[in-house]
Amino acid sequence: MKSKTILFLIIFGIVFSVAMAAEVQNRGAPNITLEGGKKGNVYFPHHMHQDNLKNCNACHDLFPQKAGVIQDLKNQGNLEKKQVMNKKCLKCHRAKKKAGEEAGPTKCSECHIK
Ligand code: HEC
Ligand code: HEC
Ligand code: HEC
Repeated sequence: MKSKTILFLIIFGIVFSVAMAAEVQNRGAPNITLEGGKKGNVYFPHHMHQDNLKNCNACHDLFPQKAGVIQDLKNQGNLEKKQVMNKKCLKCHRAKKKAGEEAGPTKCSECHIK
């Protein structure tokens, strides 16, 4: 191969991988176990919600995309206890149920597992 061809291939490779990296979004863990206090922890299928809702800000307008952030904000007093549960999880599941659509659980023991 000519050295010019090789150089072209190298540059093309770099540009291509940078473009790819920008496209790939960090979706976080597929499934997450959230701290649920005395009631017991809560299993949360993260990617299933991403696929269904197609809107990260359905949740991440209330807390950033960072592991353990809900508990950290609650510990710092910057997020009320049960706020994510009431304003996000339950609010949406109840609304979907009322509209006769596929919905997630609304009963305590269906989310909190001891
Ligand atoms: C239905 C609610 C909901 C939706 C929608 C949602 N997330 Fe999350 N996400 C969460 C919860 C809950 C956590 C965990 C926060 C914690 O650990 O305190 C989280 C955590 C994360 C984290 C950090 C955790 C990790 O494993 O790295 C990333 C990154 C993330 N989300 C990205 C996204 C992206 C990108 C989208 C949209 C494509 C999205 N999320 C949509 C609820 C949601
Ligand atoms: C759709 C799932 C879901 C259902 C149903 C649910 N919870 Fe929760 N609950 C959560 C999540 C997620 C958290 C952690 C985030 C937060 O505090 O908002 C939580 C947190 C809690 C906490 C801990 C608050 C703290 O920081 O100490 C208590 C107590 C609680 N829930 C009680 C209940 C009771 C009682 C019910 C039934 C009336 C219930 N939950 C129903 C998801 C749920
Ligand atoms: C904006 C709407 C919305 C929000 C916010 C939301 N969910 Fe859901 N959730 C859904 C829908 C819709 C389904 C039903 C999906 C299906 O069965 O196809 C669902 C299903 C579930 C299921 C059942 C999964 C299964 O395999 O059957 C669990 C558990 C769940 N959600 C937990 C949570 C928790 C915990 C939170 C809060 C951190 C939350 N959800 C926030 C819309 C939402």
